[in-house]
Amino acid sequence: MTMLGFLTRTVTKAGMVKPSCLVKPVSLNWIPGRYLAHQESLPKLPVPPLNQTCDRYLAALEPIVGAEDLNHTRQLVEEFQLPGGVGERLQKSLEHRASKLENWLSDWWLKVAYLDYRMPVVVHSSPGVVLPRLEFSDRQGQIRHAAKLIAGVLDFKTMIDHETLPVEYLGGKALCMNQYYRVLSSCRIPGAPRDSVVNHALSKTPPTHITVVHNFQFFMLDVYNSDGSPLTVDQLCVQLEKILNSSLQNSEEPIGILTSNHRNSWAKAYTNLIKDKTNKESVQAIQKSIFAVCLDAPMPQVSDEMYRSQAAVQMLHGGGSRWNSGNRWFDKTLQFIIGEDGTCGVIYEHAPAEGPPIVALIDHVVEYTKKTETGRTPMVPLPTPQKLSFNITPEIKSDIEEAKQNINTMVHDLDVKVIVFSHFGKNVPKSFKMSPDAFIQVALQLAYYKMYKRCCSTYESASLRMFKLGRTDTIRSASIDSANFVRAMDDPAKQNLEKVTLLQKAVKAHRAYTDMAIRGQALDRHLLGLKLQAVEDLPAVPDIFMDKSYSKANHYNLSTSQVPAKTDCVMCFGPVVPDGYGVCYNPMEGHINFAVSAFNSCADTNTSQLAHALEDALLDMKNLLEQTPKAKL
Ligand code: COA
Repeated sequence: MTMLGFLTRTVTKAGMVKPSCLVKPVSLNWIPGRYLAHQESLPKLPVPPLNQTCDRYLAALEPIVGAEDLNHTRQLVEEFQLPGGVGERLQKSLEHRASKLENWLSDWWLKVAYLDYRMPVVVHSSPGVVLPRLEFSDRQGQIRHAAKLIAGVLDFKTMIDHETLPVEYLGGKALCMNQYYRVLSSCRIPGAPRDSVVNHALSKTPPTHITVVHNFQFFMLDVYNSDGSPLTVDQLCVQLEKILNSSLQNSEEPIGILTSNHRNSWAKAYTNLIKDKTNKESVQAIQKSIFAVCLDAPMPQVSDEMYRSQAAVQMLHGGGSRWNSGNRWFDKTLQFIIGEDGTCGVIYEHAPAEGPPIVALIDHVVEYTKKTETGRTPMVPLPTPQKLSFNITPEIKSDIEEAKQNINTMVHDLDVKVIVFSHFGKNVPKSFKMSPDAFIQVALQLAYYKMYKRCCSTYESASLRMFKLGRTDTIRSASIDSANFVRAMDDPAKQNLEKVTLLQKAVKAHRAYTDMAIRGQALDRHLLGLKLQAVEDLPAVPDIFMDKSYSKANHYNLSTSQVPAKTDCVMCFGPVVPDGYGVCYNPMEGHINFAVSAFNSCADTNTSQLAHALEDALLDMKNLLEQTPKAKL
């Protein structure tokens, strides 16, 4: 069994979080039931003190709102937290909720962040992962790699099924492993006004098949032998070959494209689609499958420099109705994509999990595909994989046409630039005793400031998995300290020594925010909880949530995330506001992979410019530190 390297940190004697290198996860040699025992041992997500959140909220607003708005908000916040006032009342209700539930936030978060969200999952919610290009450019290579990859996922699944998945640690604390149990055999289902997620892993008859899509046609491929052993790579090759040979033409309606539509339109089309018994059975087979493999047609050839950016859009949306967008079931939690041209990656539906567990699974699979194959192939004939049929009525056809038009509009609107920043990686910030993540985030602030001469509301995901069923909170990277630093960098009157001091302060402040966030003391989910509690308890939402500053704070012009991996890959996602950027990065030791996205329809954003500004910012910060001898002290 391959041991996975995970995000880990240790705690110093003083109780300070001491960032540490990737430490081997502790092998628990779990026995069945140990997963639940581990989960039970995790602490509950705390409700932070009201005054602390109010103070932190005002501090977070300082770099991003004007003085007048800030003064107004200060008054609202003061009123909100008056003794016996509305804030205290909501806080008490929230604490009561927290005492009753395993996690006061997780259900709410699943609904408000994902299932109630009506925009298409494509571009607006589902992240993609670009893996290194593979060395083949034909069907045989595609089949062989797909077979190895399927075997790798099944190997990972064995760890999940046997509860032998090594537990992960962060800051010396064991992490919630629940998300690993949510990503396989799982699927989102459209509904209005709210979607749902089904998970078949724990059903009485868990699935033994995966979905394979080729030329817009869906197949059900059983991946276990009758004795319960997983199919070997050779067996999988035989089965995949049968699928490819029976779907050589893409003459059929791209039914999967329906899943890329606005959620209300898709929910309506879905109700209509599954009225037909055959369609219903086919859809259920996809939903129930362990995961999906999309065998894509080759994309137009581009230069080596452009390759990763093109691969990123192929992962995010498939390239449009002419290309591979119909070769997906976007509601499926996990879809591996393998192109005939050697492109490889993943798209995943975000509701059940964050990026890190997905990337840990990918790291395992990538390692697995590199191993020499040793499994002996049983000489039993295997049943032909079942093609999933769909009866297309004129109404369904018209829904497909509408979905095609919509995805083509999205495809034209999304710009993604993947860059490999090769000058340095985590090594340089570490040599200056700085947190690499904080260094990159401060560089992003500098890049944005250089382009726009202002700071913007910035989101970075922080893991809440120290707590049972924890998901994420927000690290607000635009801080008073980062603002002081970026302004100084733009001020010719400032001396380098002062700039270095401000840089060190900004990096430290970011790291301190991170530590506070992963310990459940950040402000954003708490404010959200108070607001949702108000919706439940009060006739009207308090003024602080109707305030201009609140909407500005939640309008993330920079939506960012670090998703570290052992594999030289990068995760990518779309912006969360029309005039914003999505920035995801994988910092490796000697280089950093970045994916920057923006919408072409916004005249104010430009991915190439931000990517260049980011490279310049990283280099300027390194040069500043190197040229200022005191920085090494
Ligand atoms: N001096 C020297 N080295 C330092 C250092 C310092 N002051 N601070 C940190 N480091 C080292 C660490 O030891 C670690 O070493 P490693 O590369 O050997 O492992 C490395 O630098 C990375 O630490 P840092 O850059 O501080 O980041 P992190 O790994 O703690 O990650 C977050 C920070 C916010 C990304 C992480 O806490 C988190 O929450 N991740 C979840 C993100 C997520 O859920 N995303 C969802 C996307 S869908």
